[in-house]
Formats: sequence, structure tokens, C-alpha cells
Amino acid sequence: MSKSLNIAIAGLGTVGAEVARQLTLNKEHFTRKAGQPINLVAVSARDANKERGFSMDGIEFCQNPLDLVARQDVDMVIELIGGSEGVAYDLVSSALNQGCHVVTANKALLAHHGLALAASAEDSGLALAGEASVAGGIPVIKMLKESLAGNHLTRITGILNGTCNYILSVMQHENREFEDVLAEAQALGYAEADPSFDIDGVDAAHKLAILSSIGFGYAPAIDEVSITGIRQITLTDMKNALHLGCTIRLLGEVERNSDGQVAAMVRPVLLPLDNSLAKIDGPLNAVAFTGEPIGAVTAIGPGAGAGATASAVLADVIDIAQGRISPFFGEPASMLKPAQGQAQNNRAERHFIRLQVYDRPGVLADVTAILRQHDISVESINQPSRSEDGIHGDVPIIMTTHETVASELFAAMAEIADLSTVLAEPVVLSIGHD
Ligand SMILES: NC(=O)c1ccc[n+]([C@@H]2O[C@H](COP(=O)([O-])OP(=O)(O)OC[C@H]3O[C@@H](n4cnc5c(N)ncnc54)[C@H](OP(=O)(O)O)[C@@H]3O)[C@@H](O)[C@H]2O)c1
Repeated sequence: MSKSLNIAIAGLGTVGAEVARQLTLNKEHFTRKAGQPINLVAVSARDANKERGFSMDGIEFCQNPLDLVARQDVDMVIELIGGSEGVAYDLVSSALNQGCHVVTANKALLAHHGLALAASAEDSGLALAGEASVAGGIPVIKMLKESLAGNHLTRITGILNGTCNYILSVMQHENREFEDVLAEAQALGYAEADPSFDIDGVDAAHKLAILSSIGFGYAPAIDEVSITGIRQITLTDMKNALHLGCTIRLLGEVERNSDGQVAAMVRPVLLPLDNSLAKIDGPLNAVAFTGEPIGAVTAIGPGAGAGATASAVLADVIDIAQGRISPFFGEPASMLKPAQGQAQNNRAERHFIRLQVYDRPGVLADVTAILRQHDISVESINQPSRSEDGIHGDVPIIMTTHETVASELFAAMAEIADLSTVLAEPVVLSIGHD
């Protein structure tokens, strides 16, 4: 064995430190798997003195991540800093310009700049790999690019954010309010101190944009993902969902709509309790692919955390070392169709609606009159008693509709929100189907 692969890691946090630990502790394993010795030669982080859980013997510490690329002996840079702009972007671009392969777990970077970075890598015959960027330890990118490559996909649906799934499943099983569970998730390390990216659906949208591009062959475009997070979901919503035989989960969904366009959305959805994704609890992820000729296939597993994410990063390292280098999006970046503009989900779906209204005669009549004008047929109405769910003079109305196109429903909701008796933005969730 004459050659070897020299690696530099930028970012020694949750993921980076575990990747470095594995590479240094299990050198012999990686030599066998990669067919050549893998040498961790340099690392970068902000704090040079922090104990990271692996031996720094023979490894250079660079304060500036760009110095990793300036070294002449680095064959591959593993970017584990994070963020779509700034140092992560500068490092990955300059690594590719300097002839280094790149592995990253950075979904924000790939969703925003993946097209240009993939093109740059392909032009130079280099690898840009990012298995860890979507669904952590579940090999969904490999599955999509390789194992399902012969399929004509019609739909990808996934639980792509473990934080949201943890919060919603604890609300479901322990009857607890959103804020209470969020605080617990932060204490357990499942949610960041600033949880906005997770609970507002942005993290899931980054992952969905990547899956959507690989699955449907469009340039990634985060702006074209319609995003609704879970901040507005209350325990009352969860209880009502359960009353309807459903739970609530944040789903990333992309599918070809009836106009042939690809519509991508991240949103909380009511899922029947017997739906396979409704059974995914805690911080797990799951992704279901539907297409021809396979039919449907679902992958479930740990979507985040040091071990799961490092596992995906290390698989990319081994692939590249073995010479298995393929375009990041499964086809050359130059062949991806241009992003098409935000497509509407024009599929007719049943919907769950929660309105918070003044408890006055005539309110319900005003609401149903607007629904009638929009040709929306109500399936059920439930007004829980004030003592249980409302403060004085203010009550929720829970409705479900028969199948309705979202555009019509949202037009009706805008009118309903303008009624002086409606106290808050209506909460509208679609009721999922298989
Ligand atoms: N954590 C997960 O479960 C998970 C799952 C999937 C994907 N990812 C992705 O993996 C990447 C890393 O996530 P993480 O959770 O490991 O992040 P993290 O724990 O916050 O670690 C970030 C690392 O980057 C270093 N860093 C930040 N700014 C730097 C700079 N200017 N120069 C040099 N180093 C800098 C930090 O240094 P210090 O340690 O010195 O502060 C730290 O070691 C992100 O793209 C994330 O989205 C994470």
C-alpha cells in the first residue's frame, strides 16, 4: 500500500470531535475499509486549548480554518463548522479551488450554495460529499442517489428534524404544553439555546431542498420551500388531533403536483395514528420515498447526535478514499433543471382548523358563511367547554373539512382572520394521507 489520504477537519464540536476521535482511535479499521491509511494531519476550531476527547499527537492545530487548505499535503477537508455563509463557505470553496475533496454535514451551506459548489467540484474531478447533511445517521442521500436511482420518484416525505419530533411526540405522550417540552429539549441538548432554526422549520427545509434536488433533478432552491414551523401548536391541538385518531408531526414533503411541478413544503400535519411516520417518536428521523417501480420504501434512524452524524461523515470519507466519487446531486450539476419558482400544493386534502373566538352568538354562523362562499365543506365542528380550554369570553372552535384545495382554504382563512370576533391567526393543518 503506497499511497495514503491526508485529512483536515474544520470544527471540533459535537460532530467534528467525534469524527476525529474515530479516525484517530480506529486507524487500522479505516486503513482496511479505505484501502489506504487515512491520516488526520490538521484540525481547526476556535479554542485551541479545549479538551476534545482525542489525542492531538502529530496533528497540527490551525486557528484559521483556511490555513488547513494552505497546507500542501491535505487531500480532503471535512467541514464541520456550520452556517451557510462566512468561514464554512470560504473554506469549502477554497478547498475545492485548491484541489481538495470536501466532506461536510452542513445542510444550510448545501441548500444555499450546493449547486455552485457541486459544479466546482465536478469541474475539478473532486468529491463534494454530504451524507450527514440530511437525516444524520440514516443513509438517505446514498439511498436516493444510488439505491433508488432507477426510480421515477413521485414523492418524498420525511420527519427531518429531531428536535421538533421530540417536542411533538412528548406533547402527545405526556400531555404537556409546547413551551414546557421545548425547555426540556434544550436542557437535554436536543434543542439549541436559540431553537428558531429547528422549531420554525428552517432546518427541515434545508434538508428537504437537498433531497428534492437529488430526487427530482432541480437546482436546490430554499426559497421555493413553503415553510411553517411548530410554534403555534398547542396541547389543545394535540388533544384534538388525538380525538380524531391522529397525532401531529412536522413533515418535509416534496411531490410532483397535478401540474407536473414539484411542490416542496415543511409543515406540521395531522397523521393518522397507524401511519408509519406517526409512530416515529423522540428525536428519530424517518424518510419515505414513493416512486416507480419500487412503490414505497421508508428509512428510519437517528437523525442527529455525535455518533450518528459522524457515522455518515466517515462513510463519505471511505467512499472517497475508495475512489467512489459521484456528483453531489446524483447527476452533474450542469444537468439540473433550473429552479422553477414556488409551486403550490394543489392536492385536495382534509384540513384541521382551530379558531380562537369571542364566545358570542353568531360567531360560528359568520365563520361557516365564509367557508360556504369558498365552497369548503365542513366535516366536523367541536367547541370545547370554556372552563377547560378558554379564558373568560374566549373559546376555541375546532373544525375539520372534507377535501379542500389549500389555496381556497387559505383565502377563506384570511377573511375569517379579519372578523372582529376572531382573536388570533387561525391554525390550519392538513390531515395527512398515505
Ligand atoms: N450536531 C448534530 O447532531 C448535527 C447533525 C447533522 C448535521 N450537523 C451539522 O454539522 C455541522 C457541525 O455541527 P456541530 O453540532 O458539531 O456544531 P458545534 O458543536 O457548534 O461545533 C462547531 C465547531 O466549529 C468551530 N468553529 C466555529 N467557528 C469557527 C471558526 N470561525 N473557525 C474555526 N472553528 C470554528 C467551533 O469551535 P469551538 O469548539 O472552539 O467553539 C466548534 O468546534 C453543522 O453544519 C451542523 O448543521 C450537526
